[in-house]
Amino acid sequence: MRTIDWIDEAIVLVDQTRLPGDLTYLRITTVAELIDAIKRLAVRGAPALGVAGALGVALAARTGEPIGPLREARPTAVNLAWGVDQAAAAPDPLARALRIRDEDIAACLAMGVLGADLLAGHGATRVMTVCNTGGLAAVERGTALGVIQTMHERGTLREALALETRPLLQGARLTAWELARMGAPHRLIVDSAGPFLLARGAADAVLIGADRIAANGDTANKIGSYALALGARRAGVPFLVIAPETTIDLATPGGDVITIEDRGPAEVLSIGGVRLAPEGAGALNPAFDVTPADLITAIVTDRRVIRLDRGETPDHA
Ligand code: MRU
Repeated sequence: MRTIDWIDEAIVLVDQTRLPGDLTYLRITTVAELIDAIKRLAVRGAPALGVAGALGVALAARTGEPIGPLREARPTAVNLAWGVDQAAAAPDPLARALRIRDEDIAACLAMGVLGADLLAGHGATRVMTVCNTGGLAAVERGTALGVIQTMHERGTLREALALETRPLLQGARLTAWELARMGAPHRLIVDSAGPFLLARGAADAVLIGADRIAANGDTANKIGSYALALGARRAGVPFLVIAPETTIDLATPGGDVITIEDRGPAEVLSIGGVRLAPEGAGALNPAFDVTPADLITAIVTDRRVIRLDRGETPDHA
């Protein structure tokens, strides 16, 4: 199953707002529809957004719509703007977009191998993860969850603990669905249980994906990642970022200048569309946080392992 693809002159993508109940696809023929799908998180996850951005430029070449609003549909994942820019600069945007799609599939496979090898070296069999970084966040397999899949295929995964990931529950809705489909042993935990369960020795490593990695290694990822990194450091557990080279943004020197998407109060005041908080309550809703490089053990890309714990950084590895 591919999460996003180009079929018969249209972008076809899994509608992730309908999972885990229904596996349905959206057929997208205009840039305006694609922007709407990105903003609603029907398609989401940094690598998938890179492919969506590139394929969107191919659509724009057919419809004549502007690509500026597509580039800015979500600000934190560098892959979206990168995918748009790559396709826009190419003589044949569709050919470039299809190559980005194919390179993403290969990159996810490569990260799975490098990440699972690194964890095998630590004797790690129980892992904790946040958000959804699986095939649904890419074209196939994904990043951190792709490593977990590779561990499962090798028979070295004892358990994956997945944070539910409020407010939009990507962990509970999407990661649990993917782990069940692959037949991997897993349990869900509430987000606030993560650091405490690490303190109690419930996992041997934490694996997260990334939306943007700065030149110094600071990493923006789903809100909750920073708390897990603090918990991992205190517990003495390796904290690994798994992301393709395309998520490294050397133009951003450090995490303090990464734009963090604010998704507004409604998602926090309700769950699944059911209002929980009293009328008049306000809410803050940062969709991502930034984990400082000094809390990250290593970044695993499709080409290398950057050992931040040994002083390496993405720009000096
Ligand atoms: O808001 P989302 O669901 O797009 O957030 C996704 C994440 O934070 C992922 O961890 C990240 O994009 C890496 S996906 C392989």
